[in-house]
Amino acid sequence: MPGDFIGVGVGPGDPELITLKAARYIQNADVISYIASGNGRSQAKVIAGAVLKDAVANQREIPVVMPMCEDRSIANKVYDEAAEQIQQALNEDKTVVFLCEGDPLFFGSFSYLLERIQENNPCQVVPGISSVNAAASALQLPLTILKESFVVVSGRHTEEKLCEALLQHDSVVIMKAGRSRQKIVNALKQSNRLADANYLEYIGRENEVIYQDVDQLPDESGPYFSLFVVLRNERDQS
Ligand SMILES: C[S@@+](CC[C@H](N)C(=O)[O-])C[C@H]1O[C@@H](n2cnc3c(N)ncnc32)[C@H](O)[C@@H]1O
Repeated sequence: MPGDFIGVGVGPGDPELITLKAARYIQNADVISYIASGNGRSQAKVIAGAVLKDAVANQREIPVVMPMCEDRSIANKVYDEAAEQIQQALNEDKTVVFLCEGDPLFFGSFSYLLERIQENNPCQVVPGISSVNAAASALQLPLTILKESFVVVSGRHTEEKLCEALLQHDSVVIMKAGRSRQKIVNALKQSNRLADANYLEYIGRENEVIYQDVDQLPDESGPYFSLFVVLRNERDQS
């Protein structure tokens, strides 16, 4: 009987937003896996740091080193190799917890491992608080009310696609804003929604930054952990 493969959401950055269930699974896992950058750094592992201190003895790690590039064939090769390593541990009846920043199934790399592993192994998913919910809390603004429509899009879409979403929906969250910042600001101007926009980076972390006047944003790329939340200034209460 293989061990369980468990995707565990650790939330957007504030360690106090890790759920009790997530902490329990992390501490009891035989193997901890996570996405790491070329320098070995993993945001999810940093967030889970305090919980990992109390983990069982001899906990092994499987870091999944992902190069910073948008070539899907390279990413797929990394996922194939990681899935093989994880499968070996599962075959030894080990429980493997995959740490996920935010929620595991919301724009998460865990999805690509789950689809490779779930056919032959028992799997579980522990939801986490996503950056979208953390953004609304940081702004103290409702994401949607009453009949408002709400959409989440990636900042990697074309300016035209972003405009379409901004014109069509009341509330729009634009993820992966870092290198797309200027294109997003252009789309906000073109759709006449600049005044509705908020910009947030590193939500829930020590270096959190919030701009509620997006016109003041520096004219440069932002960090990977950044997003825009666009909400109607005048909300229809009917
Ligand atoms: C691969 S997605 C992961 C989303 C994550 N699974 C979640 O539930 O929020 C990464 C994107 O999420 C957003 N993000 C995640 N955490 C964030 C944070 N603490 N502050 C700002 N944006 C964040 C950024 O837009 C970033 O480019």
